[in-house]
Amino acid sequence: MSSSETELPNSTQPSPTNSDLLRELATLKSELHRRTRGTKLFRYQPYAKQREFHAAGAVHRERLLMAANQVGKTLAGACESAFHYPPWWPGKRWDRPVKGWAGSESSELTRDGVQRMLVGPPKIEAQWGTGLIPAADLMDWARRPGVPDALDGVVVKHVSGGTSTLGFKSYDQGRTRWQATTRSIANVGRFDTLAVTRSSLEPIK
Ligand SMILES: Nc1ncnc2c1ncn2[C@@H]1O[C@H](COP(=O)(O)OP(=O)(O)OP(=O)(O)O)[C@@H](O)[C@H]1O
Ligand SMILES: [Mg+2]
Repeated sequence: MSSSETELPNSTQPSPTNSDLLRELATLKSELHRRTRGTKLFRYQPYAKQREFHAAGAVHRERLLMAANQVGKTLAGACESAFHYPPWWPGKRWDRPVKGWAGSESSELTRDGVQRMLVGPPKIEAQWGTGLIPAADLMDWARRPGVPDALDGVVVKHVSGGTSTLGFKSYDQGRTRWQATTRSIANVGRFDTLAVTRSSLEPIK
């Protein structure tokens, strides 16, 4: 047997160049991005403290997650406010549509914090639906007048067939705006403002 007969059939094909490989990598990355955008929540894996915080929601009406900077407090709160629960979810599950609030000190901080996490980059409307609320269930939104790119609230499809609503609020709007109606969920960024929302929360069932 000659040496040419032992060669693999495609060994004559040129090997890919670096630019071919880079092009393929870019294509794969954009396909990965396309397939995963809008489903961020389902890849959330809380670590032990976050899990404990979620689990406490099944039995407590109010919870406080007090922890160091940049350890995932806002993310954990936002995942609860996204209204969807993966099979492993250890906390409170709402089997009916609910009304909720999420907020922090100012409209701008609420927009750049919890709105960005739940909906997507505030300045890029084309990417609303890439946050924690699954894109397929983000049905509608309303802008907040007077604050660029800030949302007043979103409407989210609930598994029961109804619709849940989440309003974005800020403490600078004052106590009365938070107490306007009874809510099932309130996600607030600071514990010294718990009293503001306490009286508008419905009892846990
Ligand atoms: N369980 C997790 N899995 C992966 N990433 C996480 C997890 N928890 C937090 N992170 C990441 O850690 C970073 C900080 O999260 P986050 O903004 O929620 O922290 P924070 O405690 O609210 O911060 P701050 O003190 O600035 O308010 C984010 O990039 C977030 O995506
Ligand atoms: Mg935070």
